Amino acid sequence: MRTLIGEEYFARTLSPIDRLSVRRNAESVIGTQIRPAGPYDEARIRRFLVGLSLHTQTLRFFTGIPSPKDALVRALLAVDGQRDAIVAERDGEIIGHAMSYRGGLADVEIAIVVTDEWQGRGLGRKLIATLLGRAAGAGATTVGMDVLGENRKVLKLIRRMWPDAKMTVSSGAVEVTAMIQPAVTFAEQRSVGPPLTS
Ligand SMILES: CC(C)(COP(=O)(O)OP(=O)(O)OC[C@H]1O[C@@H](n2cnc3c(N)ncnc32)[C@H](O)[C@@H]1OP(=O)(O)O)[C@@H](O)C(=O)NCCC(=O)NCCS
Repeated sequence: MRTLIGEEYFARTLSPIDRLSVRRNAESVIGTQIRPAGPYDEARIRRFLVGLSLHTQTLRFFTGIPSPKDALVRALLAVDGQRDAIVAERDGEIIGHAMSYRGGLADVEIAIVVTDEWQGRGLGRKLIATLLGRAAGAGATTVGMDVLGENRKVLKLIRRMWPDAKMTVSSGAVEVTAMIQPAVTFAEQRSVGPPLTS
């Protein structure tokens, strides 16, 4: 059940259209668990990566990854003082991944990917909110993200989540920097009931 404070933040920080969208998306991701990644996820994350379409791989990694290297797999699962990683899991398989690491332009740089069949159902926003909630808890106040210029979906998502984001175009990619807004992050995290845990 949502707490009163969660409802208050939810009502205060999101527009009516956003609230409808969040509720619609919440219903479709019930049964999905968001949790920290770990070394025990190695086989699962490999299956997740090779199951992504070439298009999704390219938007996330700026290249195709037909056979992910060990170093990449380790980097995606590393959680330490410099890096954080979370996964969305459903029926024992990973369907989404998000990571943050200490950045240059911002306190944390983030990267995120959701498996093709689960895109557009609210999981991406949820992963970002959970990741940023953890980063803010560790003291981060600014977030950065590198996005391919053609990635309209993510640029739209960024404009909606962070209307004041600064975007700098550099050789086909867009460098995004924004303030982490704990209230919005909190509202997004609390907007789904217990089956989606974080
Ligand atoms: C980016 C990504 C992680 C978003 O995850 P997602 O689960 O699809 O996103 P959500 O369902 O939470 O949608 C978030 C917003 O994206 C936009 N969006 C989602 N699906 C869309 C679509 N088919 N067309 C246009 N915009 C869309 C909307 O703004 C949406 O907000 P809304 O729910 O208020 O309408 C996912 O699409 C993905 O893995 N893309 C490939 C990798 C990538 O681009 N990573 C980012 C760079 S690191």
